[in-house]
Amino acid sequence: MGRAKKVVLAYSGGVDTSVCIPYLKQEWGVEEVITLAADLGQGDELEPVREKALKSGASESLVADVKDTFVKDYAFAAIQANALYENRYPLGTALARPLIAKILVETAEKYGADAIAHGCTGKGNDQVRFDVSCAALNPHLKILAPAREWGMSREQTIAYGESFGIPAPVKKSSPYSIDRNLLGRSIEAGVLEDPTFEPPEEIYLLTKAIADTPNEPEYIEIGFHRGIPTTLNSTPKNPVELIEQLNQVAGNHGIGRIDMIENRLVGIKSREIYESPAMLVLINAHRDLESLTLTADVSHYKRGIEETYTQLVYNGLWYSPLKAALDAFIQSTQERVSGVVRLKLFKGNATIVGRWSDNSLYTPDLATYGAEDQFDHKAAEGFVYVWGLPTRIWAQQGRK
Ligand code: ARG
Repeated sequence: MGRAKKVVLAYSGGVDTSVCIPYLKQEWGVEEVITLAADLGQGDELEPVREKALKSGASESLVADVKDTFVKDYAFAAIQANALYENRYPLGTALARPLIAKILVETAEKYGADAIAHGCTGKGNDQVRFDVSCAALNPHLKILAPAREWGMSREQTIAYGESFGIPAPVKKSSPYSIDRNLLGRSIEAGVLEDPTFEPPEEIYLLTKAIADTPNEPEYIEIGFHRGIPTTLNSTPKNPVELIEQLNQVAGNHGIGRIDMIENRLVGIKSREIYESPAMLVLINAHRDLESLTLTADVSHYKRGIEETYTQLVYNGLWYSPLKAALDAFIQSTQERVSGVVRLKLFKGNATIVGRWSDNSLYTPDLATYGAEDQFDHKAAEGFVYVWGLPTRIWAQQGRK
């Protein structure tokens, strides 16, 4: 008896997920492997990937273009939550996993499979995101993770694959581990494992080195409707287009590089490099528009919610009940977050230089130091007295 009869495998076309196909069948007695490659805007040609799965022994090879859903339902939600893990990482990889899990489960249900599989190892966050998301969406499906158990080195994995006709990678495979999609690139391993070592310029693809960026600043305007970015320089953009263009425009000015030591859920600290121009610019702009349109208390309270939200997403709990509850809170805050933010892109910085909204709470008559001032200065006196009363009493007591 094998571990499962029919399996839907998350497939990338790389060595590990290709080797998973014969491995599941030979070692774990799986009868049929259906592969599913998600198009998340990683820029790979997916037709060769589709064919490679069949050559590697898949009974069926599927490709799903989920770019639009990815941006609309995952990236935009994260922007509304101003989600930056450990204050820096805009979750490009973490956001893709629950969507891949969702289509894996849908496919398993459609094809009557009894398990889903993925090629994650036991050291990363992605295994958690896949396993927990799949369990949340269909707790009856088994989850198989061959690479978590097979204990083969890179060389052994390639040799195992070759014995089943899976060609070794043609170009000398990259010394880095790279995950890429519309939201950016995540780069780790190789020389980057030394946290004192400056990342070599060759690892970057979406962002220019500052020395090569334009010597003139570029101004852009991003329009939001209820916390969702909808226009670039007054032109309406569909979600995917907006992200692609912003990656290009901001990356051209060297914006979007992150070099950090990150705390993984599995307890390991890792050195991660990210390029995520569009997401960083959008989160900054969105946060700024909130500062104009939300009341102080909602804005301050939301920061705590954002922190929890970000950790849930990073830690694989996208489909958890707490996440759903936080979503409801965040949605209710976004009702008036509409308007435009103007930014200046120059030499690695996206500086916010202006913002406006029909729902602005900024009140010139109250804010001004000029003659038009409408603020009741007299009223401040009593307010300050009452506000400071507990502290005054505390101080008096301390002097006794
Ligand atoms: N550390 C990031 C995360 O957990 C990115 C991992 C990306 N994977 C990779 N092979 N580089 O979301």
